[in-house]
Amino acid sequence: MLKVGLVLCFLAALGGAQGSNISCSQPADIAFLLHDSRNISAEDFKEMITFVKELVAQFDISLTSTRIAVIKFSHGTDVEFTFGVYNTLSEVERGLDAIQQRKWDETKLNSGIHTSRFILRANGRRDVPHILIAITSGLSDNRAETVRQANLTRGDGVEIFIIGVGSLDQVQLEEIASEPFSDHLFNVTEYSELSSLGGILSEKTCPDTGLTDIPSDQVAAQEACYQMPAEVVFVLDISSSIFMHDFQKQLAFVSSLIRIFDIGENETRVAAISFSTNATVEFHLDEFYDQKDVRDHVEMIRYTGGGTNTGDALKLVNDSVLISERGVRSNVSHVVIVVTDGRSENSTETKAQANVLKDSGVLMFAIGVGPYVDDQELEAIASEPSENFIFTIADYDTLTSIKNTLALRVCDVGIPGNQTEIDAE
Ligand SMILES: *[C@@H]1O[C@H](CO)[C@@H](O)[C@H](O)[C@H]1NC(C)=O
Ligand SMILES: *[C@@H]1O[C@H](CO)[C@@H](O)[C@H](O)[C@H]1NC(C)=O
Ligand SMILES: *[C@@H]1O[C@H](CO)[C@@H](O)[C@H](O)[C@H]1NC(C)=O
Ligand SMILES: *[C@@H]1O[C@H](CO)[C@@H](O)[C@H](O)[C@H]1NC(C)=O
Ligand SMILES: *[C@@H]1O[C@H](CO)[C@@H](O)[C@H](O)[C@H]1NC(C)=O
Ligand SMILES: *[C@@H]1O[C@H](CO)[C@@H](O)[C@H](O)[C@H]1NC(C)=O
Ligand SMILES: *[C@@H]1O[C@H](CO)[C@@H](O)[C@H](O)[C@H]1NC(C)=O
Ligand SMILES: *[C@@H]1O[C@H](CO)[C@@H](O)[C@H](O)[C@H]1NC(C)=O
Ligand SMILES: *[C@@H]1O[C@H](CO)[C@@H](O)[C@H](O)[C@H]1NC(C)=O
Ligand SMILES: *[C@@H]1O[C@H](CO)[C@@H](O)[C@H](O)[C@H]1NC(C)=O
Repeated sequence: MLKVGLVLCFLAALGGAQGSNISCSQPADIAFLLHDSRNISAEDFKEMITFVKELVAQFDISLTSTRIAVIKFSHGTDVEFTFGVYNTLSEVERGLDAIQQRKWDETKLNSGIHTSRFILRANGRRDVPHILIAITSGLSDNRAETVRQANLTRGDGVEIFIIGVGSLDQVQLEEIASEPFSDHLFNVTEYSELSSLGGILSEKTCPDTGLTDIPSDQVAAQEACYQMPAEVVFVLDISSSIFMHDFQKQLAFVSSLIRIFDIGENETRVAAISFSTNATVEFHLDEFYDQKDVRDHVEMIRYTGGGTNTGDALKLVNDSVLISERGVRSNVSHVVIVVTDGRSENSTETKAQANVLKDSGVLMFAIGVGPYVDDQELEAIASEPSENFIFTIADYDTLTSIKNTLALRVCDVGIPGNQTEIDAE
């Protein structure tokens, strides 16, 4: 975790800042939640976008440093772009310029916060601060639900800033913002004031604390995986909750991950299991020792549809894959990577089978894709500490965005002697 005593540059300009965890130079995932209401004039909406652009320009925008997402709300919510879509300042600026005002009625701030929370959870990186900056000129239509959503979001560790435009009830804004309010809650009387605020901000320089520790680039991952002996078993969901084209993306992801591993008879060996109603071993650990052969056989896996019998798949790992008859090396780490987009039919069974593997020293990674994954189930599958072993992402398109980080984690825990227990058969 990289939470250090961070300072928010734009709040520094306002004289606040000490109690905040955000700074310009340190990596963060920042979601902007923008009010998109009928009674905001086109000119005012533009002022708001300009303000956000000026704010964003304060940060070091890149895939490995600060990333930006933008969400609009009023009658409903629109995710304009999520994290990782635009990864340079000019791309983000273009993304902001392209935002259309829909001029809806209503102020469903609760839905806006709910969606922001989901985006931060699903697409945010686990090792950087999560920030939500909401700009609104209306109070919520559903105060109780808004308070609840804000509470859940703060409970996730998200730091919430709120900027109220016009004279809004301070108490209601305080129910949303993080504390101390002096650092997280701002008032302006009209939108044009926002941009003047932005003007001050852009003149401020940010303190440089020089922290860069997001080891997510491919070179670092390949280095960590070089000559790394490990038994890696992929457990892939081919149930009907997955669309055909998403299934292809899942295979492409596994294939790109394998590309990072140092595959070989005495290095990393790979096996794959697919599961829906039934589980099948696609290939064993001792079948292919050539990188391309392994990838080719991953790409040959066929989609069947059917249920989500995760428990049986895990049982098959124990009973048929990680067995001495298949030449499993007992002096290297055993890693299982489960990719799923739904909840299993029998979560008791899934948990029990995951525990069998964990008890025998297997390191379990769980990758949850999409909005229907069950967090508790991912936790039941994954090894501890869960922040190292669980990945949740919004959709199959963003799957490849975690491949370097995942490879790095797999290869890091793979260091012999760097884990508590290895099955000593
Ligand atoms: C603008 O409209 C929203 C509803 O869309 C309302 O909550 C808000 O009070 C309105 N603000 C003004 C200044 O009329
Ligand atoms: C907010 O969450 C805390 C626990 O994190 C809880 O004690 C409190 O009752 C919640 N408040 C509301 C209004 O939901
Ligand atoms: C800032 O980070 C510290 C340490 O992680 C945490 O205790 C504190 O609650 C955070 N502050 C806010 C406003 O989120
Ligand atoms: C915001 O404005 C209100 C008056 O509308 C004032 O009472 C309040 O102190 C202001 N809050 C902040 C944080 O400046
Ligand atoms: C792997 O190691 C074994 C035993 O040390 C050796 O016989 C075999 O040739 C090695 N394989 C490769 C591809 O280096
Ligand atoms: C699962 O296996 C059972 C028996 O082994 C078989 O009858 C059934 O058709 C299989 N289901 C699927 C979806 O392959
Ligand atoms: C796990 O597999 C081993 C054989 O490798 C077997 O002896 C054991 O009973 C299996 N455990 C469970 C709970 O099925
Ligand atoms: C594991 O053991 C085999 C022989 O038992 C040996 O050849 C190999 O080098 C060992 N691997 C590691 C990583 O210690
Ligand atoms: C779930 O699996 C457990 C064994 O782990 C079994 O006892 C239970 O009957 C199963 N439940 C269903 C609904 O199949
Ligand atoms: C274990 O892994 C961590 C990183 O996950 C690394 O910092 C540490 O040096 C490793 N320990 C050993 C004994 O290799």
